[in-house]
Amino acid sequence: MSETIDAFLKENRTFPPPTEFAKQAWVNNDDPYKRAEDNYEKFWEGFASELHWFKKWSKALEWKPPHAKWFVGGKLNISYNCLDRHLSAHKNKAALIWEGEPGETRTLTYYDLYREVNKFANVLKKFGVKRGDRVSIYLPMIPELPIAMLACTRIGATHSVVFSAFSAQALRDRNQDSQAKVLITADGYYRSGNVEKLKERADLALKESPSVKQVVIVKRMGNAVTMESGRDHWWHELMQEADDYCKPEEMDSEDPLYILYTSGSTGKPKGVLHTTGGYLTGVYATNKWVFDIKDNDTYWCTADIGWVTGHSYIVYGPLANGATSLMYEGSPDYPQKDRFWAIIEKHNVNIFYTAPTAIRTFMKWGAQWPEKRDMSSLRLLGSVGEPINPEAWIWYHETIGKGRCPVVDTWWQTETGSILITPLPGHTILKPGSATKPFPGIAAMVVDEHGKEVPPGTGGYLVITKPWPSMLRTIYGDPDRYVKQYWNKFGGKFYFTGDGAKRDKDGYFWLLGRIDDVINVSGHRISTMEVESALVEHDAVAEAAVVGKNHEIKGQAIVAFVTLGDGYKPSDQLKEGLREKVKEVIGPIAKPDAIIFSDDLPKTRSGKIMRRILQDLAEGRPVGDTTTLRDPGVVERIKQQL
Ligand code: PRX
Repeated sequence: MSETIDAFLKENRTFPPPTEFAKQAWVNNDDPYKRAEDNYEKFWEGFASELHWFKKWSKALEWKPPHAKWFVGGKLNISYNCLDRHLSAHKNKAALIWEGEPGETRTLTYYDLYREVNKFANVLKKFGVKRGDRVSIYLPMIPELPIAMLACTRIGATHSVVFSAFSAQALRDRNQDSQAKVLITADGYYRSGNVEKLKERADLALKESPSVKQVVIVKRMGNAVTMESGRDHWWHELMQEADDYCKPEEMDSEDPLYILYTSGSTGKPKGVLHTTGGYLTGVYATNKWVFDIKDNDTYWCTADIGWVTGHSYIVYGPLANGATSLMYEGSPDYPQKDRFWAIIEKHNVNIFYTAPTAIRTFMKWGAQWPEKRDMSSLRLLGSVGEPINPEAWIWYHETIGKGRCPVVDTWWQTETGSILITPLPGHTILKPGSATKPFPGIAAMVVDEHGKEVPPGTGGYLVITKPWPSMLRTIYGDPDRYVKQYWNKFGGKFYFTGDGAKRDKDGYFWLLGRIDDVINVSGHRISTMEVESALVEHDAVAEAAVVGKNHEIKGQAIVAFVTLGDGYKPSDQLKEGLREKVKEVIGPIAKPDAIIFSDDLPKTRSGKIMRRILQDLAEGRPVGDTTTLRDPGVVERIKQQL
């Protein structure tokens, strides 16, 4: 992974902010860094004061490591901040511009969105959803998804959005863990021109989701669905009858806002819990400064709202800023490989935020696709999800941005809620491949095993050393895991990110990827354990070990080493069966790229699987020390299968 740094040595150009950009930017000097350094609590209070509070907080921060409370005693409502607050100045401004995969467009002004959210909040109330209740949302990229989220915030319900491409089992597990009362889903959605039958998957999950009493279904496709009487209701029918005003609940700053499940290094996905005041302050501040968002901008983040990037930077950040946020339903290559560029041209997009894996795919498809389109409206580009290799950065900057647009490489996590390490585009001198420096008010460090800061150029663990407003507060239903997973490694002193990093002599951070058992496939976090347990659910599998392998487009690809049970023989058909099993348990993103059958796995004498060796084998590298193996011969036998 030090390839990134090595590549930088070859690609050592730096990119100062273009003068014109800097002139108009929210930030174009280091004053905010100084202010935040002087007093970070006061610094964050500045952003919080730009929001609407029913009651002001009495204390900025209460920090009892590892538990933080921000804006203590403050009362606010998220939907009020994202909608009502903008009605005087922006009633008829586009809040959401939505484009469906077949090409239709729906624009919702702030007033339209306000009305829909109020109505749906009343629908939820009618179903008995109260403050603090959980609501599962299993919707594709259609406007009803942000409407449902905001409606939850209006009445103080905690939403749990489940990525629409996840499997029925994944939904079932999340419904069970959160004990959701209501599920909101759709009949289906488009993906690359095909119909995905979402309700069928939801029905499977509902068989084992006893807490869910009511289901609301959006009619997106018109495909046939089974409706269970008394439980299932059509969205459009409920909305016809709903009142169009719902008084916003006055939530405590520390009341739960949402749960979002993400992969950790052990066990089942964990429900990262975010709260109200701090989260909104974090996404509001970063969306404003990192994307330099202005009143006239059309801003497009290509993530799916099923992931944290969509929560923070399609929904809450842009709407808290009164901005225009674009949402696209479908695939980047439908009907042709220039769809993204066609959308930029059609909607005059100014700010574009995507992932390195997408950029590498576009590079492979070739410059002829973007070149057909007029993208002169673009003024800023962003990247998120994994380290961006300098070559992809330069391509993005030259081919998409025509050398005119700063590129903000933003590092953050589901747990951090908002961007923590990032350039500020009107101020920071960019180095391709580096996420540059912590956002003002954020304190990050690279440390060794003992928590001691390492010298410049040395790799180590990335830690965050001070609390920040949008940090996760706990793991839903498992407070011990919160402490263990993120704080115990360095004795409760630092938040442990799970990422490796280096800092260069200018203090720039270079992210080096995960150092735990988490694989980052196309910017999506998948735990090796989750894939392994999906594989062993298959009757034929006795044992499985999963590692990540470098992949040109996806960043990392999944490789599974599998030992079969008695009576089963390796075959291509079985490989496909195993891949299908993983899809069924987790979803298509977790399907292994390669499955390697082996009569045994490399284990120590105590029976621990040596992943390091499997990693070497997967990468085709010379295998390191095998002397501690119970059966060193296994390595040769696996090699023969490769
Ligand atoms: O490894 C880091 C990588 O993505 C992880 C967080 O994944 P997730 O919670 O799914 O959130 C993704 C979107 C915020 C991190 O631990 N990561 C994210 N952004 C970057 C990154 N790695 C390097 N550079 C980035 N800009």
